[in-house]
Amino acid sequence: MSDIHAIILAAGKGSRMHSSRPKVLQILSNNTLLGHVLSQAKPLCDKIHVVYGFEGKQVQQQINDSNINWVKQTEQLGAGHAVAQAMPHIEDNSISLILYGDVPLIKKATLADLIHQAQQSGLSLLSVILDNPTGYGRIIRKGEQIQAIIEQKDANNAQLNINEVNTGIMAVHSQLLKQYLSKINSSNAQGELYLTDIIACAVADGQTVSSIISKNQFEVAGVNDKVQLAELERIFQKNQATQFMQQGLGLKDPNRFDCRGAFTFGQDCEIDINTLIEGKVSLGCNTTIAPNCIIKNTKIGNYVSILSNCVIEDCVIEEGATIGPFARIRPQTHIKTHAKIGNFVEIKKSTIGENTKVSHLSYVGDAIIGKSVNIGAGVITCNYDGVNKHQTVIGDGAFIGSDSQLVAPIKIGKNATIGAGSTITKIVPDNQLSLSRTKQTSLKNWQRPTKK
Ligand code: UD1
Ligand code: CA
Repeated sequence: MSDIHAIILAAGKGSRMHSSRPKVLQILSNNTLLGHVLSQAKPLCDKIHVVYGFEGKQVQQQINDSNINWVKQTEQLGAGHAVAQAMPHIEDNSISLILYGDVPLIKKATLADLIHQAQQSGLSLLSVILDNPTGYGRIIRKGEQIQAIIEQKDANNAQLNINEVNTGIMAVHSQLLKQYLSKINSSNAQGELYLTDIIACAVADGQTVSSIISKNQFEVAGVNDKVQLAELERIFQKNQATQFMQQGLGLKDPNRFDCRGAFTFGQDCEIDINTLIEGKVSLGCNTTIAPNCIIKNTKIGNYVSILSNCVIEDCVIEEGATIGPFARIRPQTHIKTHAKIGNFVEIKKSTIGENTKVSHLSYVGDAIIGKSVNIGAGVITCNYDGVNKHQTVIGDGAFIGSDSQLVAPIKIGKNATIGAGSTITKIVPDNQLSLSRTKQTSLKNWQRPTKK
C-alpha cells in the first residue's frame, strides 16, 4: 500500500479575525483550528506537511510537533501554489491528502473514505450540498461524472443554480498531482494558481474524478471570522453532547453544556444546565452536578453531589461527598468519602477526611484534616505569614468552634474541641477543650451615644 501524505494549507493570515494570532491558531473548544485538523489526519497519514506563511514561528511553536514537515509559502499565490510548495517533499508513489488548517470539524472517517477512493481511482474530491452555494466553486457533472469546478465569478446563471460545491478537500495520487500542478497557470481573475484547475486537467487527461458528498455542511465549513468560529464551537459542543448522551450521560439541556477537554463518566450521572468541563475530568456512577458549575482536571467518584455554582479545579473528590452550593475547591485538594463541603467555603491544597464537614463560610488551605471532624462556620486556617505558607493538621473527631482562627503551623489533637471564636496559636492536645477568648463583661450603666 502506498504512503499517505497530508498537505495542510495553513498560510492564510485571517485578517477578518482581527487578531495577532494567525487564523489556524484560533481556539475551538480546547484546541487550535489546526490542532483539530491534525487530530483527524494524523492517524491516517504516514507524513504530515503543513504549509505556513503568516507568523510561521508562532504556529510551529504552539503546535510543537516534531513529526510535522513545515513548508514555507513565502507569497500567497493561491492554493495551487501552496500545495506545489509541499510537492518536493512527497514521493511520486503516494497519495496526497489536501486539507485546510481552517476547516476544523473534518472527520477522520470521511478522510479515510476519500483516501480509499483515491487509491482506486487516482483522484477523489470531497463535495457538499449547500442551500446557499454563493461564493463556492460549483461542481459540474455529466451524469455521475465530474466534468469541472466553476468558480462563482466564472459561472453562468444555470451553473449558479447548482447546489453541489467544492470543499477543496481531496485525495490525489501524488504523481498525478505533480503532473497537473505543473500544467496550471495563474491567468485568471485573481492572478493565482487555482488548485481547482487540476480537476479540469484531470478531466482533459481522461482521468476519472471520483467524489464523496459530505453528509454534514459543518464538517467542511471554513472559519474566517469570529462569528463563524462561534458557530462551529456550538456545532462542536452539540455533537459532543449528543455523543455523551448516547453513551448514557444525562444532560438537562445539551445546548447549555460545554466540554473543552477529555471527559469520562459512569452510569446514571446527571448534569444540569450551564456546566463547563475543562481538561481531564472523570465522574464515577450516579454523580450529579447542579446548575452553573465549572469543573477542571478533576477526578470525581460515585454518588457525589456537586450542588450549584461551584468552581472545582485539579482535585480528587471521593464517593458520596457533597460539595456546594457556592464552593470553590482549588488545586491539590483531596476530599474523601462522604465529606461535606458547604456554601461559601474555599479549600486549597488540603485533604479533607471521610465524613468530615466544612459546612459554612470557611477558608481551609494547606491543611490535613482527619475523619469525622466538624469545622464550624467561618473557621479560617491562617496559612500565610506574609512570606511563607504553613500547614494545619487536625486529628480525627475534632470539633472546631465557629469563627476560630487556626494560626499555622498548628496541630489540633484527636477529638479535641476548640471553643467558638478562638484564635489558636499553640498545639492543641487530644480530647481537651481549648479556647482563647477575652472574658465577657457587661457594663451596667453604659449608655448609647446620642446623635449630635
Ligand atoms: C476555494 C475553491 C472553491 C471552494 C472553496 C471552499 C479555488 C480556486 N477555489 O475558494 O472552489 O468552493 O475554496 O472553501 O481553490 N491558501 C494558502 N495559500 C494561498 C492561498 C490559499 O495556504 O496562497 C489556503 C487558505 O488559507 C485557505 C485555502 O487555501 O485555507 C483556500 O483558499 P482560498 O483561495 O481562499 O479559497 P476560496 O477562494 O475560498
Ligand atoms: Ca474573632
